[in-house]
Amino acid sequence: MAGLFDSFTLKGMELKNRIMMSPMCQYQANEDGTVTDWHLVHYVSRAIGGVGLVMVEASGVEARGRISTGDVGIYSDDHIAGLARIVELCKSYGAKTAIQIAHAGTKAETPEPNVAPSAFTHFDRYNTPQELTTGEIQEIVTAFADAAVRAVKAGFDTIEIHGAHGYLINQFLSPLTNKRTDEYGGALENRLRFPLQVIRGVKAVIPDDMPLLMRVSASEYSEEGYSLDEMVEMAKQFKEAGVDMIDVSSGGSLPTAPPAIYPGYQLQFAEAIKHGAEIPTIAVGLLHNPALMEEALQNGRADVVAVGRELLRNPHFAKTAALELGAELELPNVYKYAY
Ligand SMILES: Cc1cc2nc3c(=O)[nH]c(=O)nc-3n(C[C@H](O)[C@H](O)[C@H](O)COP(=O)(O)O)c2cc1C
Repeated sequence: MAGLFDSFTLKGMELKNRIMMSPMCQYQANEDGTVTDWHLVHYVSRAIGGVGLVMVEASGVEARGRISTGDVGIYSDDHIAGLARIVELCKSYGAKTAIQIAHAGTKAETPEPNVAPSAFTHFDRYNTPQELTTGEIQEIVTAFADAAVRAVKAGFDTIEIHGAHGYLINQFLSPLTNKRTDEYGGALENRLRFPLQVIRGVKAVIPDDMPLLMRVSASEYSEEGYSLDEMVEMAKQFKEAGVDMIDVSSGGSLPTAPPAIYPGYQLQFAEAIKHGAEIPTIAVGLLHNPALMEEALQNGRADVVAVGRELLRNPHFAKTAALELGAELELPNVYKYAY
């Protein structure tokens, strides 16, 4: 099995190591959704620090699909140039680049009314959403595909569809949030309809050799939510529709926290999906200890490890991990004086 500092190839994308910067909203975008100097400095610093795959935060496919008005947008061609500059610089430091395309649904806090599969929410903080009509659902499918076209134009190596954390795609998948009685609700086959349409729509507009990623919430931490077995079944269908690797997170449909949070608390889900659906997975969640990351990969539980908060603390975490594991990782020449 490969380790943290072995390369990883998925279709036409080759990562120099298996550390991914997990998507993390910065709430620093301009109100029109364009990126700022903050994003350039933030993402490029992690590329300089040796991360194999830098993923840009959840970026709204519609203005009303942003979590906040400080979110990055990818709903207009005006967003492409700023993103392209981030991509260009990250690549010049040897990182590959990804962008997470997202729609927050109920969890959007923008001036526009929020929308969802069904007109209710489990959260006190969000407004009651408007129920989407089937015509509006199709418009959002198109918005995801248009966003993917822009991501390709900006030069990203891969795209991740945000299907986790109780946002719009997750809202359709989950019986906790999807109470529709039409072809988009009820049985699993129906709850899968919108997510599969999004995947197919994106797949149709990206180059054949570009891998497509999808983030899921593998557990809803509720008896009334979908089960891990159902998630494995969903992952099989995502794969059939064109997803090449699943980024395995959890929670978000309800305002409840996981029962226990400990290093690698979501790793079991990445392992179950990897083997159950026979698809590469990204593990995430308090995987900040290089020995534990190595264990996850070498024991075949996941293929890539995403790091969130540790990379906020330490942009050079990849080098720290390489030193700890005795692996080689080249940083820009002048930084050699520091090691
Ligand atoms: C500030 C912040 C912003 C986040 N934004 C996103 C996001 O845009 N998309 C997403 O899927 N997850 C988001 N997350 C979750 C992280 O990607 C990651 O899954 C989580 O922090 C667990 O990994 P960690 O323990 O390494 O931090 C965010 C987390 C933080 C701390």
